[in-house]
Amino acid sequence: MAIDLNGKPIAITGASSGIGAATAVACARAGMAVAIAARRKDKLDDLVERIEKHGGRAIAAELDVRDADACRAFIELCVSRFGSIHAVYANAGYGEEIAMHAMSDQGLRDMFEVNFFGSMNVVRPALEHMLAATQPEAGLRGHVLFCSSCVARLALPYYGAYSATKAAQHHVGRAMKLELEPQGIAVTTVHPIGTRTEFFQQVEVRSGHSKLLSHTPDAFLQRPDYVANLTVRCLRRPRAELWPGASGTFVRFGMSVLTLLPWLADLSLRGMVDRRLKNYAAREARGEAS
Ligand SMILES: NC(=O)c1ccc[n+]([C@@H]2O[C@H](COP(=O)([O-])OP(=O)(O)OC[C@H]3O[C@@H](n4cnc5c(N)ncnc54)[C@H](OP(=O)(O)O)[C@@H]3O)[C@@H](O)[C@H]2O)c1
Repeated sequence: MAIDLNGKPIAITGASSGIGAATAVACARAGMAVAIAARRKDKLDDLVERIEKHGGRAIAAELDVRDADACRAFIELCVSRFGSIHAVYANAGYGEEIAMHAMSDQGLRDMFEVNFFGSMNVVRPALEHMLAATQPEAGLRGHVLFCSSCVARLALPYYGAYSATKAAQHHVGRAMKLELEPQGIAVTTVHPIGTRTEFFQQVEVRSGHSKLLSHTPDAFLQRPDYVANLTVRCLRRPRAELWPGASGTFVRFGMSVLTLLPWLADLSLRGMVDRRLKNYAAREARGEAS
């Protein structure tokens, strides 16, 4: 039986843009009360206004997910304003296109702080409330979602650190699913493929150059609202992993096969490296290389 989401609160990090913002809108449309967080408060306030204009309930908190106390305060805000918490979506994250050996220790730690520990910072306090709640006869005590990625299964060259953070979220999510299932809590890892968000703009800012690695053909890019609607469907009927749509299923299958055949994975990814080296050489020839 599908879970009735009407009136149920969800807390979402990284909701000032992209997948998080689209998920907040989709959840509000499904009748959920939405608590949203990120660093850009102006964007969050606009989103709250948009949701309220359509009759929904929303609150916003400005935070950096690296700050565990701020994450706890965000969950407390959700519970005090909406009375409980049904779901938490650890979605905030970023990537960088950089060769692994060129990445500083600090850069690597920073990425884990946001993508991995930032997820745990919001999931832990949410779970405390979920575990303290009485389990309804039919339904769940709560639902934890991690926004991982398709690269959780297979690392892309120049995205080694990012892939590692996404794999860490995935592994932890899969373990937590089995640990929390007996207590009436669902855990889902969400695995978007290339999605049209600010993600790649942020990659360019952080990498200090325009994108050199071409990994997702435009035709394969998904819209954030498409991913968001499937996430709402997953909140109604929880599942362990969400790979959005037919393309997501295709990528999931492809990556699973490639993990069994590392030589085939190398063969297909080597082309990506060659193209990037060519792009870099062309940029160098134009005098644009840093
Ligand atoms: N787009 C893709 O192709 C793709 C594919 C697979 C997985 N994903 C995953 O999807 C998730 C959402 O990304 P997106 O595609 O929607 O990109 P996006 O539009 O850049 O959104 C990223 C969100 O994370 C927030 N964020 C970043 N660092 C933060 C921090 N330190 N503290 C709090 N919030 C922070 C940003 O808000 P502020 O800047 O306002 O803080 C923003 O709201 C990420 O976890 C990403 O890894 C994306």
